[in-house]
Amino acid sequence: MSDPFRVTDTVRLQPGREASVLRGHPWIYSGGLADARPTGIAPVRVVDANGHGLGVALPGSSGGSLALRMVAWGEERWGAELLRQRLAEAVALRDRLAIDSDAMRLVHAEGDGLGGLVVDRYGDTAVLEVYEPAWQPVLGTVVSFLTDTLHVSGVLLRRGYERRSTPEPVVGPLPAAPVEIREGRARLPVDLVRGQKTGFFLDQRENRRRLGEVARGATVLNLFSYSGAFAIAALLGGARRAVNVDASRDALGLARQAYGLNDLEARDEDFLAGDAFTVARELASRGERFDLVVVDPPAFVRRRAELEGGLRGYKDVNLQALRLVALGGLLLTCSCSALVDEEAFGGALLAAAVDAGRTVRILERRSAAPDHPVALACPESRHLKAWLCEVRARR
Ligand SMILES: C[S@@+](CC[C@H](N)C(=O)[O-])C[C@H]1O[C@@H](n2cnc3c(N)ncnc32)[C@H](O)[C@@H]1O
Repeated sequence: MSDPFRVTDTVRLQPGREASVLRGHPWIYSGGLADARPTGIAPVRVVDANGHGLGVALPGSSGGSLALRMVAWGEERWGAELLRQRLAEAVALRDRLAIDSDAMRLVHAEGDGLGGLVVDRYGDTAVLEVYEPAWQPVLGTVVSFLTDTLHVSGVLLRRGYERRSTPEPVVGPLPAAPVEIREGRARLPVDLVRGQKTGFFLDQRENRRRLGEVARGATVLNLFSYSGAFAIAALLGGARRAVNVDASRDALGLARQAYGLNDLEARDEDFLAGDAFTVARELASRGERFDLVVVDPPAFVRRRAELEGGLRGYKDVNLQALRLVALGGLLLTCSCSALVDEEAFGGALLAAAVDAGRTVRILERRSAAPDHPVALACPESRHLKAWLCEVRARR
């Protein structure tokens, strides 16, 4: 069998395009190439306009203008040894972070120098998500690292570049039922087969913990709740009540299970299936108010062309949410759109506050949990904004 790490072709960059690669940025767009974009999925050697070697990249063939993702820099030799070294470094980092959970992101793509590869651990099962077909030929090295070094008993594979609804079992069977994870004091069901992302939104772990700290005695509205993990954190932190709203009935089913796992009473009126914009409007028109409102919608902006419409979405959803926060209450408002920077997000929130007649103070600008590292050289890969705000009447 031929070596899947073997590099045969070379791709030359346009003059000047080497600067960001030399700073450690892993992405090269098709406009930065002097040579034709690679057509296959084999790794390529990347050189500057003068032919000086910059490293090795995997071709981006999942559509769009992202042509190459660097995986080795300078003299590094792309091979099984380097890949295992990167994986070991990623795991060692998580070990140092004292993460209070048995579920975590072990490999965060570009943040761990492995652009296009995500590995999440849920107890004894690892879920790989690959965003480029170029990862496929070397996955054996990743899988054997996970089974031999981390001793996971199950490995599932999701191909993020395909619109597949179910992951493939690589080691062990597909789990027949949701697996249970622990996050702080919470016990949470995770559906690794039909769930969203790799099964759970691990990036919000620290924000859920923080919500639990400020939830004592509060009534909580959890808009875009998914499996109710923010509600569970709030209730375990002493909240009086938490209402979950999500468009997915499956997600709300998991949320109900989560209440059961944590010995919390699950009342029908605390699980509202439907469009969060509509449900929020209805709640506001009935005069409902909550001490704490969480807004964690799906990414409204996935490509640049969606920016304007997406920002209108963030404004609108925050307008609905602000109307539901009791005066003096708290809003935890999130955006997982990497293309929406803090300034644009703040602009949408301010427009919402003006229309809602509220004064909003930002208490904490939070982000993703530290098992989602962001390379300083690649700020575009920083996706999550989670702002804890206080809401008052307009002065
Ligand atoms: C980013 S996830 C929320 C994650 C959740 N906060 C957690 O900590 O696990 C976004 C959720 O929004 C839901 N969703 C998408 N569009 C929606 C809509 N229009 N109304 C209500 N929920 C929606 C999805 O089903 C998904 O569960």
